[in-house]
Amino acid sequence: MDQKTFFRLVFLIVAAGFIISFTSTHFSHAPSSTTGLLDCTYSSSSPLCASRNFLFNRQKRPIPKNDPKPKPKSHDHSSDTPNHPLDPLTVTELKKVKTILSSHALFASGAPHAFHTVVLDEPEKSLVRRWRKGNPLPPRKASAIVRVGLDTHVLTVDLSSGLVEIEGYPVRASGYPMMTIEDMSAATLAPFSNADFNRTIISRGVDLKDVKCFPLSCGWYGKKEEENTRVIKSQCYSSQDTVNFYMRPIEGLTILIDLDTRQVIEIVDTGRTIPIPGSTNTEYRFENIATTDKNRLINPISIEQPRGPSFVVEDNYLVKWTNWEFHLKPDPRAGMVLSQVRVHDPDTQETRDVMYKGFVSELFVPYMDPSDAWYFKTYMDAGEYGFGLQAMPLVPLNDCPRNAAYMDGVFTAADGTPFVRENMICIFESYAGDIAWRHSESPFIDLPIREVRPKVTLVVRMAASVGNYDYIIDYVFQTDGLIKAKVGLSGILMVKGTTYQNKNQVNKDKDGKEEELHGTLLSENVIGVIHDHYVTFYLDMDVDGPDNSFVKVNFKRQETEPGESPRKSYMKTVRNVAKTEKDGQIKLSLFDPSEFHVINSAKTTRVGNPTGYKIVPRATAATLLDPDDPPQKRAAFTNNQIWVTPYNKSEQWAGGLFTYQSQGDDTLEVWSNRDRDIENKDIVVWYTLGFHHVPCQEDFPIMPTVSSSFDLKPVNFFERNPILKAAPNFEHDLPVCGANSVSA
Ligand SMILES: *[C@@H]1O[C@H](CO)[C@@H](O)[C@H](O)[C@H]1NC(C)=O
Ligand SMILES: *[C@@H]1O[C@H](CO)[C@@H](O)[C@H](O)[C@H]1NC(C)=O
Repeated sequence: MDQKTFFRLVFLIVAAGFIISFTSTHFSHAPSSTTGLLDCTYSSSSPLCASRNFLFNRQKRPIPKNDPKPKPKSHDHSSDTPNHPLDPLTVTELKKVKTILSSHALFASGAPHAFHTVVLDEPEKSLVRRWRKGNPLPPRKASAIVRVGLDTHVLTVDLSSGLVEIEGYPVRASGYPMMTIEDMSAATLAPFSNADFNRTIISRGVDLKDVKCFPLSCGWYGKKEEENTRVIKSQCYSSQDTVNFYMRPIEGLTILIDLDTRQVIEIVDTGRTIPIPGSTNTEYRFENIATTDKNRLINPISIEQPRGPSFVVEDNYLVKWTNWEFHLKPDPRAGMVLSQVRVHDPDTQETRDVMYKGFVSELFVPYMDPSDAWYFKTYMDAGEYGFGLQAMPLVPLNDCPRNAAYMDGVFTAADGTPFVRENMICIFESYAGDIAWRHSESPFIDLPIREVRPKVTLVVRMAASVGNYDYIIDYVFQTDGLIKAKVGLSGILMVKGTTYQNKNQVNKDKDGKEEELHGTLLSENVIGVIHDHYVTFYLDMDVDGPDNSFVKVNFKRQETEPGESPRKSYMKTVRNVAKTEKDGQIKLSLFDPSEFHVINSAKTTRVGNPTGYKIVPRATAATLLDPDDPPQKRAAFTNNQIWVTPYNKSEQWAGGLFTYQSQGDDTLEVWSNRDRDIENKDIVVWYTLGFHHVPCQEDFPIMPTVSSSFDLKPVNFFERNPILKAAPNFEHDLPVCGANSVSA
């Protein structure tokens, strides 16, 4: 990378809100301020906690000057060493990969090259499962996806021997590797190298200095000019008088760019008659819109843990909290990866396997407007943009509460240089006033019983800002053995410019039928286009060990025999053990409901039930696109809500290893249709959480978070309620905080 490109990269990274720095720690608690506005007492009257809060100060002074922004403590990553077979590559190891590869024959030609991903090549599962703390680590290897000239290579680099293996990825599938940050920055700048682009911008009355272009992956449609070329489209916005440039699209202007040569291939310039929406009401930054209506303010709220958190993070990546333990790491593509998730059994005192590995494998976000400037918007955010690469530093006190600890990601730039993404993951205990279990006895039963246990959970969180949209991913661990995977959507809509300022202007045909807008008019000249979000999770369940079966517990109506009962019907369950992959392809239906169990048939409870965990879907959505529509073929992994495949180290990315411009020949659907045996095998369950999003005015100019989730819930895994012996809250345990020196 030449110096100019390097500085451009540095600028981009800083501009995106994160800092290249080697001076922060993997995991650290935000220090709590010692001087504060609130006094808390704990048990007696000794002040033990003190807090300061933005909102409280705001009543007199919207932005507190010298507000002590909490910042996690820092340490130097350059001396990190791996402690666990699954620990991500360290800065030192990543540098070594770069050195080894730089002198490899592949790179000798001097052709331009780029490192698209460099991550740990995880050791074989059996080795990892056998490894115990204190054992030597299995050989450390890196898996690198690089482009040299116009070729993509998958390389395995042995860090101790320096040996490089070139992997022929199984029958080379279509598609290209995940973009680098440099690819994206090149695509935002490329349009300005084109005189026609400049001319059309100026002719639209927009100052070139106000133009922000955004790189849009463009799917695959078999178009001649996009064939055998790594391409991207760029569309632009006016940032005049607003930071929320997404609300000011320069509609109909699409620039096709060759990602390898960084040259403009084609400019499509329609939509000149469509005005650029105004900047009015598009602001969302607190300093400019803080409310002064005191009565509407929420008083400060915070969780205090006077005895500190109940979790520890050992050796940088191993999280232990009450009955749970798991390995947690950042990943440039998946965002965060949970491994070796285990739960303690209060009956046997064993720590039992639940899941070997879980992560977001792919996302699919198709927009529902077939017109020229919109049809291609069918993003696959993990395989195209890198879900982890797009995860920005979390904001203490607001993204995560004060009692959170933070973890940094260590990734590589296109030239192979490692960089640190600070505070990319946070972890904290959460108490929302919910109830873990309870029972009160009625007055007509002569027993004065009031037993309640509060529900405290452990949350692991990241937030990816893939361009305009923000995805919040939470894994929530409950003491009763349940794991909730939660997806929150926020950020800014991708909107379309229109001539319409009011619904009453929309064209109607002679039958009074309104013109198809493909969305909702959100503001003057702004349409929020209808779209879907699908998030596909990879869940390598290992319930009491790797060999598991998938059971569909189907609910059926049973009619009674004449004279058998005053009842005509009742509901029963029918268990179907999936034999092959096709039995594990599940489409959810309210009218043909099932439970979905992953069981270990070799391990039963005292009374003989196989131990298991079930996948519990919640509010979700399924795709309505034609299965032969090119984007749907590429995202065929969303054709079912659940799939079950036999474990295969090469099958982790639901849209294929090379998702970018893929044609759908290496998807989860293709693998699953091989219909391999899955009974009593090491199986992987895939769950897709979906959202239909018809934008509404409340989503303008920035969206309140919408969320949904699914659960992994123990089913006959424990002998009894595993939190039977949990303690209630007692007055003397908890701090009592009250307003002290506050003058409102
Ligand atoms: C287009 O405009 C930009 C910004 O003013 C300028 O830097 C660039 O050189 C122009 N490109 C051409 C081809 O004139
Ligand atoms: C493992 O996955 C790869 C990629 O899909 C495939 O080529 C290979 O046949 C699979 N192996 C087995 C045993 O299914």
